Amino acid sequence: ETKPRTPVIWLHGLECTCCSESFIRSSHPTIEDIIFNMISLDYDDVLSAAAGHQLEDVRKKIMQEYKGKYILAVEGNASTKDDGVYCMVGGDSFLNTLKETAADAAAIIAWGACASYGCVQNADPNPTGAAPVSEIIKDKPIVNVPGCPPISEVMTGVVAHFHTFGTLPELDRMGRPKAFYNTRIHDKCYRRAFYDAGMFVRSFDDEATRKGWCLYKMGCKGPTTYNSCSKIQWNGGVSFPIGSGHPCIGCSEPNFWDKGPFYER
Ligand code: SF4
Ligand code: F3S
Repeated sequence: ETKPRTPVIWLHGLECTCCSESFIRSSHPTIEDIIFNMISLDYDDVLSAAAGHQLEDVRKKIMQEYKGKYILAVEGNASTKDDGVYCMVGGDSFLNTLKETAADAAAIIAWGACASYGCVQNADPNPTGAAPVSEIIKDKPIVNVPGCPPISEVMTGVVAHFHTFGTLPELDRMGRPKAFYNTRIHDKCYRRAFYDAGMFVRSFDDEATRKGWCLYKMGCKGPTTYNSCSKIQWNGGVSFPIGSGHPCIGCSEPNFWDKGPFYER
């Protein structure tokens, strides 16, 4: 309770803001708890009340005052073609802003499939040269929190860990926090018994769909996707894609956007 909040600069590059949408819906810890007790969200192009020069000044002030102590959270990624001209924020390329802000950060959190792996803006033929954070910043500890978006409690869990212990959580070989990405969707899926019994949905309007059988034959990527959706679920534990009757499309795996098709017959 007496610990000062960790300053956070949250940048937005090429992205859709779904990570922010997810983050603000965290239920444990709640977003209020995160904002009021754990982090000081000093700069965020989407959520900050200030804008323009005022806000850019805040970013520079935080970088100076908390040199080596602030967290850089990155939502989206940078265009690297033509000097990054395809993503301009605050009068400069996002590529430059990312490099500048990363230079004195204690650590970087790469939110979502965009910042971790590239996502749809990186899809073949990748006209803007969209590149994930780890391909641009090489000299800082980076935690990848993939998903499109990541689960809100996974996001706040990573922040809570850094605030509590002053370090990034234990990571796997792909830079993901092990605590949330160490099992496949398939390992904990409540439809697994149907998979094991060979009972599959074969059409979205068949009787097996109504009975909730396994979605593997509909292209479910659960057997090869590492994420916590089948364990902690979404919206405070309400449901997840498979719970809503849709196959997992592997949104937390590298290159899922180019590995299609999402549907198989
Ligand atoms: Fe596995 Fe997908 Fe079937 Fe669930 S629905 S058991 S994740 S293949
Ligand atoms: Fe994404 Fe699959 Fe979870 S599509 S949200 S990783 S169930």
